[in-house]
Amino acid sequence: MFVSARSFEEYRAMFALSDRDLSVRVLDCPGGAAGFVAAAGERGVDAVAVDPQYGPGRERLGAMALRENEHKHAHLVEHARDYVWTWFEDPGQYTRLRSESARAFARDIAARPERYVEGSLPHLPFPDRSFDLVLSSHLLFSYGERLDEDFHRNALLELVRVSRGQVRLYPLFLHTGFRRYPALEAMREMLAGYGVSSRVERVDYAFAPGDEEMLVLECAERRPLPERGPAPGPAGRNHDPVRWRHLDPEP
Ligand SMILES: C[S@@+](CC[C@H](N)C(=O)[O-])C[C@H]1O[C@@H](n2cnc3c(N)ncnc32)[C@H](O)[C@@H]1O
Repeated sequence: MFVSARSFEEYRAMFALSDRDLSVRVLDCPGGAAGFVAAAGERGVDAVAVDPQYGPGRERLGAMALRENEHKHAHLVEHARDYVWTWFEDPGQYTRLRSESARAFARDIAARPERYVEGSLPHLPFPDRSFDLVLSSHLLFSYGERLDEDFHRNALLELVRVSRGQVRLYPLFLHTGFRRYPALEAMREMLAGYGVSSRVERVDYAFAPGDEEMLVLECAERRPLPERGPAPGPAGRNHDPVRWRHLDPEP
């Protein structure tokens, strides 16, 4: 099962988070094995993560992320010139930071399990407007070749539903193609129809060339959202198009 472990510092950079941004209730969706909630908790930030993999077997996620890091390290050493080494210095530092994050995540999910909630887009297990700030990294847009436009539409509306302030999303690029998610503008127009204004902002973080922008959605003034269909059954809940990536042949 593929699970990544970005660090609190990466989240700060990817989402241009100020101390003020972190003085509110924050949701990380999907959390994966990221170290964000762990480090946020140490700083007194009220942060929660949600991911389909936080059910039974969650105690194995940290170790899975460490294995994923080893696999990725070999790939990065071989393909270093395809990436931008401004935020990260080199593949060694990349792997060290990601591994520290995976370990911080593993300690925190054991110590504070209530901070890690099992759930899947597009049906999150939270009431409307539960969080001031919702962060979403490396699922929407990124996996745009595996997750269709209907999924993106419903998932974006769901992230908006649980936010009373903002949703921030990074990256805007497909992870397969080093190019922007093609339906980004259509998604922004769809959201504008519900009173959700959006803007693309440059951030001080890049790993894929040109991938230096986040999308910010302003949810406070949103209009009523469409009625949601029933939550999927167990098979639907377990469907995870991001799984097994490290077993796929390299593109
Ligand atoms: C590439 S990881 C990103 C994790 C984290 N944000 C990070 O940057 O390290 C993608 C995550 O998406 C989760 N995922 C897959 N399908 C999902 C869905 N329908 N709803 C929410 N999360 C999902 C996977 O379990 C996986 O942990």
